[in-house]
Amino acid sequence: MCKGSLFITPGPLIKLRENRTEQFRSAKTKYKQRLCSWVMVTAMDSTNTEHSEARPQDRPLSPCFSSGPCKKRPGYDLAKALSDAPIGRSHRSKIGKKKLKEAIEETKRILELPSDYLVGIVPASDTGAVEMAMWNLLGPLPVDICHWESFGAGWYEDAVKHLKLPNVREFKATAYGELPDLSAVNAAEHDVVFTWNGTTSGVAVPDADWIPDQRRGLTICDATSAVFAMSIPWHKIDVLTYSWQKVLGGEAAHGMLILSPRAVERLEQYTPPWPLPKIFRLKKKGKLDVSIFEGNVINTVSMLCVEDYLDALRWADSIGGLSALVERSRRNLAVLEQWVRSRDWIEFLALDERTRSCTSVCLRFTKIQRDAVKQLTQLLEDEQVAYDIDSYRDAPPGIRIWCGATVDATDIELLTKWIDWAYAQVVANNSA
Ligand SMILES: Cc1ncc(COP(=O)(O)O)c(C=O)c1O
Repeated sequence: MCKGSLFITPGPLIKLRENRTEQFRSAKTKYKQRLCSWVMVTAMDSTNTEHSEARPQDRPLSPCFSSGPCKKRPGYDLAKALSDAPIGRSHRSKIGKKKLKEAIEETKRILELPSDYLVGIVPASDTGAVEMAMWNLLGPLPVDICHWESFGAGWYEDAVKHLKLPNVREFKATAYGELPDLSAVNAAEHDVVFTWNGTTSGVAVPDADWIPDQRRGLTICDATSAVFAMSIPWHKIDVLTYSWQKVLGGEAAHGMLILSPRAVERLEQYTPPWPLPKIFRLKKKGKLDVSIFEGNVINTVSMLCVEDYLDALRWADSIGGLSALVERSRRNLAVLEQWVRSRDWIEFLALDERTRSCTSVCLRFTKIQRDAVKQLTQLLEDEQVAYDIDSYRDAPPGIRIWCGATVDATDIELLTKWIDWAYAQVVANNSA
């Protein structure tokens, strides 16, 4: 943009042009870069009043904007948070079981779950919980699988290639940033598998109105980057899964499996024809193993991770519970929305405003390519301003900023100023 004739050469630069030394060349390049970004920024400033190339003074308090594992809660202190962990004790000891039960009960309370829903802590993180549900429950009915990014695509592949289910319909978004046509899903008669929030595309379902209250099938929802940040209409959901390292900023390892009474009924009435590995088994003598949902985990858990999750739940409770968590996440999104609105070089990947994620916010650059985006994210990392914000490798060149409840809106605000600055640097460098 600032090459050749577009570049207005001012007086001092003409003088400099006669000088042929190396030193001069580097001074000239620097000057040109500065002028270039000034020209760019000024051009943009006709619409972008806050956009400045000046290096911001203040960094975000935390540079952790990764979409998983996500930032710890505000004020997190490792030693304090874990000081009550029963380390070196069995997870089946009285104290171990008490902690696990507390994690389950507090989850139910903070998530405002219906009293007849069950919560279990299961192996292998969110993936373990989703696959456990699929392997235990799918088979008796046709299945509609809806996906709009990589993780949902994985559940489709599980159903077709690994479970080899005969009656699977695929509802796939045509491009990153879109949702498939959910109105065509037969949630009344079929089982449905979907991801509430597509972490790698920043697209979330705006509601579950496409799922009838009265239905034959089960809805299995991977909500790992949605739960605790988005309102879940529980009466539409039969199975919901997540892991601790997302919205609550917990530690990775364990999965959470939430079951409705209808899911329990299916479990008890249906036995899949394929073998189930021990870590997937939810039944004993043909009945649901209720003890799993009281803290009697299938295999060994980390009591450190459990304590850390309890700390996160206590924090959630202390700030006002679910509504406060949702509100924090929405406020973070709102900061980005306002900033994006006044920039013509960045936009949301989610095409429909109603489907914008308030956790994994995916943005794409309209005027620079992947290499330049990489330079920008590297610059922000080098400056210790933002870590791990590169968009997913298959997604269009852009950035993904985690806006979950543990992130402070003031940090998002500061981050936007640094992105303005880094963008101007990258544009200048690439035009020089
Ligand atoms: C939507 C979604 N599903 C599944 C996963 C996998 O989760 P885990 O690593 O906890 O198994 C992720 C991870 O980011 C995700 O975003």
